[in-house]
Amino acid sequence: MSNKRVLTGITTTGTPHLGNYVGAIRPAIAASQDDNVESYLFLANLHALIKCSDPAQIHQSTKEIAATWLACGLDTSKTVFYRQSDVPEISELCWILNCMTAKGLMNRAHAYKAAVDKNLEDGEDPDFAVTMGLYSYPVLMAADILMFNATHVPVGQDQIQHIEMARDIAGRFNHHFGQLFTQPEAVVESHVKVLSGLDGRKMSKSYNNTIPLFSTEKQLKKAINKIKTNLLEPGEPKDPDDSTVFQIWQAFASAEQTAEMRQAFADGIAWGEAKKQLFELINTEIAPARERYNALMEDSAQVEAVLQEGAKKAREYSADLLAKVRKAIGIYAL
Ligand code: TRP
Repeated sequence: MSNKRVLTGITTTGTPHLGNYVGAIRPAIAASQDDNVESYLFLANLHALIKCSDPAQIHQSTKEIAATWLACGLDTSKTVFYRQSDVPEISELCWILNCMTAKGLMNRAHAYKAAVDKNLEDGEDPDFAVTMGLYSYPVLMAADILMFNATHVPVGQDQIQHIEMARDIAGRFNHHFGQLFTQPEAVVESHVKVLSGLDGRKMSKSYNNTIPLFSTEKQLKKAINKIKTNLLEPGEPKDPDDSTVFQIWQAFASAEQTAEMRQAFADGIAWGEAKKQLFELINTEIAPARERYNALMEDSAQVEAVLQEGAKKAREYSADLLAKVRKAIGIYAL
């Protein structure tokens, strides 16, 4: 098996922001141009249910995330792009894997352990508000990955444990029933840019410090104006390496533009002026995608059609593999 098959999922809660764009969307789209790699990308809406029980939010976020990736140039002739819930084989495999996953393995999952620790700290029952969805989250993730025999899974640091669990579960299945699953490798992008948010901490929905990727120009300008700065006056030299404005600038600028801005900071550029230039820089890069995004958001039928096409392609693989799995475990016609 020398073929490289890269697979990753995006949980459909929330609206894409500049941090998602710089850290995940832009690099993943660039990587998917590589003809030597098979690429699978999906909207993890079944995972979203673990964190969110607002149907309108799940639905809206799914639409926004799909439209965002398409607007940013995802080539769906090269990447199999689908919605998790449109591939029922994943859910069936999830149950089968549940039946061979040690409960003790799940006891060790970081997300579950963190929830228990928090409950104990608060003097609650250890399992207060812990659902089976949260508890067995890594099994669904293993099903996502093993269903397509992915070889490489790009993930953040916090997800490495889940990939190890997927390997563990695959190994156990293969040992009992024969070699059907590939053991995936986590690919941790150490050079992935982590963008700072409005308050200087990592840009993240949970810190409520994000700049939405697609809003109106006016809203983008307004958000950029809210980036926290120090009180240095125009004409006073400023430290670029201690500045969120400069950090975000770097994520969008060429090497030459970065050098120029570094000089402007040394020369005491006013914060207002630096922010104005930052707005122009970001807006120039994302304006064409924003137009496509708005058009797609107005035309859900088109987005839906793309996802259906993706699910069809995905199921060509998953249906075949699931048939083998069923056969292996003794579920087939009499
Ligand atoms: N758990 C991942 C996250 O929160 C999303 C995800 C679900 C995923 N299934 C996956 C990522 C399979 C990689 C492979 O980011």
